Amino acid sequence: MKLAERVYLVTGGAGGIGAGVIRAVLDEGGRAAAVDLDPADAEAAARRLDPSGESVLGLGCDVTDAAGVERAVADTLARFGRLDGAVNAAGAVFLDEAWDASAEDWNRTFDINVTGSFLAARAVGRHLKQAGGGAVVNVSSNCGKAGYPNMASYNASKSAVIGMTRSLAMEWAADDINVNAVCPGGVDTSMLAGVAEWLSPRVGVPAEELLAGMGPAQLRRKVTPLEVGRVVAFLLSDDAKIIRGQSISVDGGDTPY
Ligand SMILES: NC(=O)c1ccc[n+]([C@@H]2O[C@H](COP(=O)([O-])OP(=O)(O)OC[C@H]3O[C@@H](n4cnc5c(N)ncnc54)[C@H](O)[C@@H]3O)[C@@H](O)[C@H]2O)c1
Repeated sequence: MKLAERVYLVTGGAGGIGAGVIRAVLDEGGRAAAVDLDPADAEAAARRLDPSGESVLGLGCDVTDAAGVERAVADTLARFGRLDGAVNAAGAVFLDEAWDASAEDWNRTFDINVTGSFLAARAVGRHLKQAGGGAVVNVSSNCGKAGYPNMASYNASKSAVIGMTRSLAMEWAADDINVNAVCPGGVDTSMLAGVAEWLSPRVGVPAEELLAGMGPAQLRRKVTPLEVGRVVAFLLSDDAKIIRGQSISVDGGDTPY
């Protein structure tokens, strides 16, 4: 039980990788706030993950709203009496050929993926500084390391998350706040299904067929949200204190660095 009694604020916690992270935190004896855009979705996910209602709190919050993020931190502290870190899994992708991509979509991508992650990391980080330390894990992407077509804004935003992770890790080391990132790829979530739906008419292949082939080549299946969650749970734990400012690929070997 690497995370016994500990409490984490997990953005994007209503589904996909965020919910996989919460499952892994629970498996290690921890507790979590599942933070997501729609309060009803967040609460439903909390009940699904922990029918007892004791270990997971569902909270509605838009991570681009600084005041809302502060409220989510306060609500988590009020409910559990402690907070040991943050996992930034809230994210969005707006696909388009670069020629056609709008500035609005570009900015929304950065608002959610970069600014939202920063606001949640800092709001939780302020508490960790006072409490004597903790850990933050940002969910970047293999897209933050390698280039993919039709995803310029997403690729750029996920590279920014890697840069932010390095900077926060250095700045907050003195306060014993460990900051790392994971770079997943080919994870079986609604985001990946959305990518297949977008591509399907453009390449003339049914979306289900495209989706079936979207797992990492070496793995020959998609990565599960829980597999990403277990790596995140390790990075939150004291066992990972020696790993700092890293962005670790969890994409079944697709990105060999
Ligand atoms: N699925 C993959 O293959 C993959 C690969 C690499 C990285 N990622 C990243 O993993 C993270 C989780 O994605 P996922 O695949 O689980 O997709 P997902 O769509 O299932 O989950 C994303 C969650 O973020 C929430 N969200 C979006 N905007 C938000 C906002 N402004 N405030 C609060 N919550 C918000 C959504 O409601 C959703 O629940 C994202 O950052 C994504 O970029 C996914």
